[in-house]
Amino acid sequence: MSTPAARRCVCPGSYDPVTLGHVDVIRRAAALYDEVVVAVLHNPAKRGTFSPQERRELVMASCGDLAQVRVEIFADRLLVDVCRELGAAAIVKGVRGGSDFAYELPMALMNRHLSGVETVFLPGDPRFEHISSSLVKEVARYGGDVGGLVADEVRDALSARLHGH
Ligand code: PNS
Repeated sequence: MSTPAARRCVCPGSYDPVTLGHVDVIRRAAALYDEVVVAVLHNPAKRGTFSPQERRELVMASCGDLAQVRVEIFADRLLVDVCRELGAAAIVKGVRGGSDFAYELPMALMNRHLSGVETVFLPGDPRFEHISSSLVKEVARYGGDVGGLVADEVRDALSARLHGH
């Protein structure tokens, strides 16, 4: 009997910064696949709140307990080329609702058109439905409490970046 090849998926995103909603999707992807590569994709022309290296470290701090998850940075690359390079069986994305689906569907179809790679959508857990990186940053910018929305390391990194403490 032959041993089946390890099934790897890619969880792509900007992760600026990673939220507990992202972590939930990564955790659930890890239950479905042998290996999850969290791909921090960034456009060098756009300055984020965190550098790609900082985003990677915050993802690792947020899901450090998951042995089969690794985090890699890709700049200026098509996601399908990243998937091909990694030999990924699928892209896994969380969808919080209809507007996420409307944003994600054309990308999923385009990625399949370009390379045949399928996108697997996981329904976002309703507990995290209101969480996005941009809203978390807005709340943190005005001094709101982002505990329960992001991991403690991310909360501290936001406070240091936005308020210097
Ligand atoms: O966290 P985000 O911002 O929703 O992630 C979007 C991301 C990075 C996954 C998407 O913009 C992407 O795949 N960018 C890589 C470039 C690419 O392949 N573009 C064509 C997508 S059809």
